[in-house]
Amino acid sequence: MDAIHIITKKREGLELSSAEIQYLIEGYTAGRIPDYQMAAFLMAAQLRGMALSETITLTQCMLNSGRILDFSAVSSPVIDKHSTGGVGDKISLILTPIVGACGVCVPMISGRGLGHTGGTLDKLESIPGFRTNLQINDIYRQIRALGVAMIGATKEIAPADRQLYALRDVTASVDFIPFITASILSKKLAEGIDGLVLDVKLGRGAFMKTGEEARELAETLVGVGEHFGMSTIAWLTNMDIPLGNAIGNWLEVEESIRCLQGEGPQDVLELSLKLSGEMIALADLAESPEEGEEMAHAAVQSGHALNFLAQIVEAQGGDPAVIHDPALRMRSLEPQTVTVPLDISGYIRDVDAFTLAEIGNDLGVGRLVITDEIDPEAGIVLHLRPGEKAAPGQPLASFYTRKTDQSEEVARRIYSAFTFSKTPVDKPQVLLDRLTFAGWESNS
Ligand code: URA
Repeated sequence: MDAIHIITKKREGLELSSAEIQYLIEGYTAGRIPDYQMAAFLMAAQLRGMALSETITLTQCMLNSGRILDFSAVSSPVIDKHSTGGVGDKISLILTPIVGACGVCVPMISGRGLGHTGGTLDKLESIPGFRTNLQINDIYRQIRALGVAMIGATKEIAPADRQLYALRDVTASVDFIPFITASILSKKLAEGIDGLVLDVKLGRGAFMKTGEEARELAETLVGVGEHFGMSTIAWLTNMDIPLGNAIGNWLEVEESIRCLQGEGPQDVLELSLKLSGEMIALADLAESPEEGEEMAHAAVQSGHALNFLAQIVEAQGGDPAVIHDPALRMRSLEPQTVTVPLDISGYIRDVDAFTLAEIGNDLGVGRLVITDEIDPEAGIVLHLRPGEKAAPGQPLASFYTRKTDQSEEVARRIYSAFTFSKTPVDKPQVLLDRLTFAGWESNS
């Protein structure tokens, strides 16, 4: 067996055996198969497709590339949530402290920004001092003490995903259902969890642009998750427009803090509470997701969830003071503001999440090549969202960047992401459909 034959077989559209997939993944993680051969395989697989059985084997091999955490000593069920990736998607930063405050045990392994989408790890690392690279013993200690840890895939946990994730990010091989499934589920299965809530994004700012693709991804994730014995629930959610107002690492942490103070944007709060309710119910701490949602709401209202975020930050080496007072974090960028043109008066019809994500990445929010450093302060804040009234000269959005020589062009591009209407426009619905092992339920 060798990599060239396996790549050729996939290029010809043939199904790979379990042994061949295992050879590739083991060889790549051990450094025997170089990036250029793996990149060729990624592209061949994406163009020719993979069968469900290959996706299951890929997930298994990526899971086996590292250790599997063992929480059998923890008395309550261990649950996690994962998003398939979006723009302004800061839900993990809000939901994890909410469910942690309600008693759910969450050993969350997240990723970095991928393609045009943001990553929870990059956001967490914008909190001064916050460490995401905990050793396994530290994870066990923190779960025993606090019930929650927020970490990245390490050399020990799902290392194959860590390497492949970075390679996919820069070789246009992200938006492929088998890779997304294996990437997400290998990380989540490595956590040794009992249940998983998935936020499957649909629309311009998601990897899945159509309802058909997003449903197929949700069905593959739920099917493969249940195949491995993990209770898996998926919500299909709207990603045509950014989630909330902030796009950018520290900007999204700030917005998450406002949500935990009960003041954040409605769409972010609604989605955070819905997914929290699902997790609380999966952990058997509530009779139903609706009761779980009420518990989540109470944790925000009482301030317990915000205090819990400060506790997570402190436990992982960060400065908890900035959670209670975000203004304490050093800021070196001033906002530059784009306004509604003087000849426009009416309503915001639409805001294109993908365009804004691409601009955000150019400002320094994400990486264009594997070695790029991200800028924690860079980003965009929307002042108006679809359905809201827009008056001439009113602030439309602000942006933060060190690349000040490009300001005029950035302002023009941000403006181009908006469309306007003279007549009132409905606010878009965030939560679409729900999928469990029993099938789909509509939210309308
Ligand atoms: N999130 C992941 O962890 N992996 C993907 O491939 C996409 C989203």
